[in-house]
Amino acid sequence: MLDIAIDHGSYFDPVRRELVKGNIGIKNGQVVSINGKDGADCEIDLDATGAIVLPGFIDVHAHMRDLEQSYKETFASGTKAAVHGGVTTLVCMPNTRPAASRPSIVADYMARARVASYCNVGFYCGYPLDDRDLPVLKEQGVAGVKVYMERSLGGLDWADDAVLGTAVRHVVEAGLPLHVHPGIVHTKEADGLAYLQLLQDENLTPLQAYSRVHSDAMEADGIARFLGLTSAACGGEASCKPVVHICHVSSARAIQAIQGWRARFPGAVTAEATPHHMFLSCDDRFEKDAVAKVLQPLRPRSDAEAVFRAVLDGTVDMVASDHAPHTADEKLVPFLDAPSGFPVLDAYAPLVLTGMGKRGAPLDSIVRACCEAPAAKLGLGASKGIIKKGADADIVVARKVDPRVPRADEYQSQSRISPYEGAGVEVEWEVVHVVVNGDLQLENGLLVGQPANRLLSKGRVRAPPRAGGGSPRGGGKT
Ligand code: DOR
Repeated sequence: MLDIAIDHGSYFDPVRRELVKGNIGIKNGQVVSINGKDGADCEIDLDATGAIVLPGFIDVHAHMRDLEQSYKETFASGTKAAVHGGVTTLVCMPNTRPAASRPSIVADYMARARVASYCNVGFYCGYPLDDRDLPVLKEQGVAGVKVYMERSLGGLDWADDAVLGTAVRHVVEAGLPLHVHPGIVHTKEADGLAYLQLLQDENLTPLQAYSRVHSDAMEADGIARFLGLTSAACGGEASCKPVVHICHVSSARAIQAIQGWRARFPGAVTAEATPHHMFLSCDDRFEKDAVAKVLQPLRPRSDAEAVFRAVLDGTVDMVASDHAPHTADEKLVPFLDAPSGFPVLDAYAPLVLTGMGKRGAPLDSIVRACCEAPAAKLGLGASKGIIKKGADADIVVARKVDPRVPRADEYQSQSRISPYEGAGVEVEWEVVHVVVNGDLQLENGLLVGQPANRLLSKGRVRAPPRAGGGSPRGGGKT
C-alpha cells in the first residue's frame, strides 16, 4: 500500500524535460512509482487534476532568524512559510543574533531547527573568530561559510586584503564552500550621508538613491576582489575548490564580472538570483518604498532584465529567495531607518512560476534553476530536486489560477509585509499540495503537517522523519 498517491496530474519528467501525464506513488519517504494506476491502494490520495507536479523548490538562501530574533521569525514560522510557498528544502544564513559563527551558537541554532521545522533545513555559518573552529563547524554539518563583504559578522576588517585573504584560505583549507555577499565595507553613517546627498542633488527616489549608495560597481568589484583572493588562496589554481557562490546577483555589471571569471576558471563560481532582482526594480512605484528596501538593492529595470536573462541562459545557476523577515513595525518607518530585506517564501513558487513563465522561460529552465541546480550545489542531486523512482518524495503540486496579488496578511511568516503587494504584482499560480520527505505538509493550500527533525547535513537529511513509523499525514518521529 502507498503512503500517498498524487493522481491525474502532469509531472516534470527529468529526461524528457517536459510535463508528462502520470500518477506518482510515494512510500517511506520516497517516490516508488511513476505512471502507476490511479486510485491505487494508498493512505492519502491527492487529486492533481489540471495541476503540475514538480520537485519541491530548494532555496539556498533564507534567513530564519530565531535565537534572540524570534520576534521576527522562528524555524516554525519560517519553514511553514516555505511549505506554503512550495519550498521543501532551505538553507539558512548565519547573520543571526548572536551570529551563527561559533560551534556553540550553531549547535543551539540547529537544536531549535531540529524540533521545529516543517521542511528540510540546512545551515551556513559565519567566519569564526577562532579559525580552529572551522573543522568543528564542518563536522557539525554546515553547508558552507557566508562572508558579508559589506560588514563582517565578527568584526574582522574585510577591507584589508590580508585579513580577508587569510580567512578565505582557511575556509578553502577546511574544504567548505564559500558564499559571498559582494560589496565594499560600509558604515551606516556614511551610507546615510551619501543617500541624503543623492536625494537632494539628483532628485532620485529613495530606492534609486539606495541603489546608487550600494552601487552595481561595488557589487561587481566585490565579486572580482573576492574571486581574486580565493584564486590566490588556491595558489592561482583554476581548479580552486570548493566553488565560490555569489549571492543575490542584482546587476548587469555583476553578471559581467562572473562571466569574466568563468571564462578564466570554468566551474570555479556559482551564482544565485532572487525573484525580486528579476521582477522588481527601483524604478517601480511601491506603496511604501521602505518595504522594498533590500540588499543588494533593487536596480534599474535594465538590470532586472539582465538578471532574468542570465538565469535563463545559465550564467546565474539558480534562483534563491533571500527571505529576510522583519516586523511591520521595523519596516513601516522612514526609509533610512528601515532594515533591508523582506519576506519572500510564502509566495515563492507562485512568483517564480509566474514571473519567469511570463517572460518566456520554459518549465525546463525553471526546474533547473529552482530545483536541480540548488540540489547539485548542496550535494543532494541524486535524491532531491528531481522526480524519479528512488528519489526523496519532496514534491510540490501547483495550479494555474486567475491573476491575483499575493496578500501578506495570508503569509505564514511572522513578517507580513510585501513589496509585491505594495507594487500590485500579480501571480497566476497557487501551490496546492506539498510533500516533504514523504510527509504531506500542505493539502489544498492548508498546512496539515507536523514539525520534525529534517536537518540537512553533509548532503543528506540526518533523520528521515518517517524512518521507523509515523503517519504520512502529520509527519513522524522527531
Ligand atoms: O536585504 C538584506 N537583508 N540583505 C542581506 O544580505 C541581509 C538581509 C537580512 O538579514 O535582513
